[in-house]
Amino acid sequence: MFKIVKPIIFTSIASLITFAAYAEGEKPYQLTDGKISANAIEGWKTYNGGGCGACHGKGGKGGVGPNLGQSVTTKLSKADFVNIVANGKSGTLMRPNKTNKRVMDNMDNLYAYLVARGNDVLGPGNLIKMPLGK
Ligand code: HEC
Repeated sequence: MFKIVKPIIFTSIASLITFAAYAEGEKPYQLTDGKISANAIEGWKTYNGGGCGACHGKGGKGGVGPNLGQSVTTKLSKADFVNIVANGKSGTLMRPNKTNKRVMDNMDNLYAYLVARGNDVLGPGNLIKMPLGK
């Protein structure tokens, strides 16, 4: 009897822990002692290196293209974001980036940066000169 029950208990505890970790992991960046996690900094570099700012403005605050911090925190799922960045939106200025290795390799970092911008954790500025870009 115990031999059967024990694995069930362990499995339930394990799934509770997994669930907690997922809920906490919803923010794709971490802020520790006033410092943003390295993935968001990589995202900022990719945003600039990928030329996104030409249309989406400094720090994604909007220009010819929409404010991306707002987009990723209010209307786009992560999957929507990945899809649009990779495939573009046909008939608009938003071109596909699927052959841009830097952008594709840094998709998660780019997303983390823009969510932090949308949550107003980061300003639009230089994350190396100003740790929070403000
Ligand atoms: C040549 C201009 C241009 C460049 C460069 C550009 N975008 Fe866009 N982007 C746009 C426009 C315009 C739209 C709005 C398209 C539409 O009408 O729905 C858009 C839409 C988007 C959207 C969807 C936003 C929403 O609210 O639906 C995302 C996400 C996005 N761009 C990410 C990026 C990223 C990341 C980069 C850099 C790798 C980038 N874009 C580079 C012009 C650009």
